Amino acid sequence: EELLRRVEEFRPKTAAEVEEFRIKVLGKKGELNALMEEFKRVAPELKREVGQRLNALKQAATERVAALRAELQESRADDAEAIGDPTRPGSAEQLGSRHPISLVKNQIVEIFSRLGYTVADGPEIEDDWHVFSALNFPPEHPARDMQDTFFIEKNPDILLRTHTSSIQVRTMEHQRPPIRVICPGRVFRNEAISYRAHCIFHQIEGLYIDEGVSFADLKQSLLFFAKELFGEQTAIRMRPSYFPFTEPSAEVDVSCNLCGGKGCPVCKGTGWLEILGCGMVDPNVLEANGIDPKKYSGFAFGMGIERIAMLKYGVGDLRLYFENDVRFLRQFDTEL
Ligand code: PHE
Repeated sequence: EELLRRVEEFRPKTAAEVEEFRIKVLGKKGELNALMEEFKRVAPELKREVGQRLNALKQAATERVAALRAELQESRADDAEAIGDPTRPGSAEQLGSRHPISLVKNQIVEIFSRLGYTVADGPEIEDDWHVFSALNFPPEHPARDMQDTFFIEKNPDILLRTHTSSIQVRTMEHQRPPIRVICPGRVFRNEAISYRAHCIFHQIEGLYIDEGVSFADLKQSLLFFAKELFGEQTAIRMRPSYFPFTEPSAEVDVSCNLCGGKGCPVCKGTGWLEILGCGMVDPNVLEANGIDPKKYSGFAFGMGIERIAMLKYGVGDLRLYFENDVRFLRQFDTEL
């Protein structure tokens, strides 16, 4: 009777008190088990009644512990301590920022738009004609191996574009000279991923076709571009190169701003950094795209946006652009 009263009158304040009470009463060496021990010595004629009361006691204690536990848990939810200090200011929302690849792409587009170029777009999944054949890559020509292509289908060939020159072909399909377009986009090449290469990257290519366009126009346009992007003190140099779609072709270097051209680890001691490929559009390409090469001439150029961004921001590992680690991306959120 005394134990039953204590069970009913028990008013704990914490969950720990309930647990302590449970062990004391219902535990293996608890009071209830002690009574059960005594029960063995009760006279047989009293066993029935005493047994019933012991069972009732056990049930009452068990139910009381469960009810107290639930009650304490509920009241904790509206406990000021659990909520914390309601007068504390909230944590600020983190604003996103433009990706460095977008920033550099926008800058390049903006510079060429001042020279009268407009942006053209095209599909990432292309056919052989727009990526290779219309650009003077003969069938089975080894130059096609210069770019390790991801083929989706063979014969007829459907593939992921390896350069955005395909957009220039599409432009020539529906536009007559003068043509002045800049073509940004994602391109795909089957290359092992490393600090300096990726199987997906971004290019921006340009095409200018009109009457009397010369190599001097090409060089001046690219010099203007380099100075606008890397600073007024920037110089360019052109080295002979080869592309199936341009003749003559060149690779363009900019002077290394980090060492002022004296040579440093970034430019590998040369004072120069390669930024793009270019050349005069091959007459075969004009012809294949229905433009009279006797009347018109043009130039084209193409560059990798990741590479330009690496040089501009001093980023040493191209993979950072794809990981989207906010600690990396946040460094660019001051730029528009
Ligand atoms: N399409 C070339 C490439 O992806 C770049 C380029 C464009 C070169 C235009 C010359 C002229 O490597």
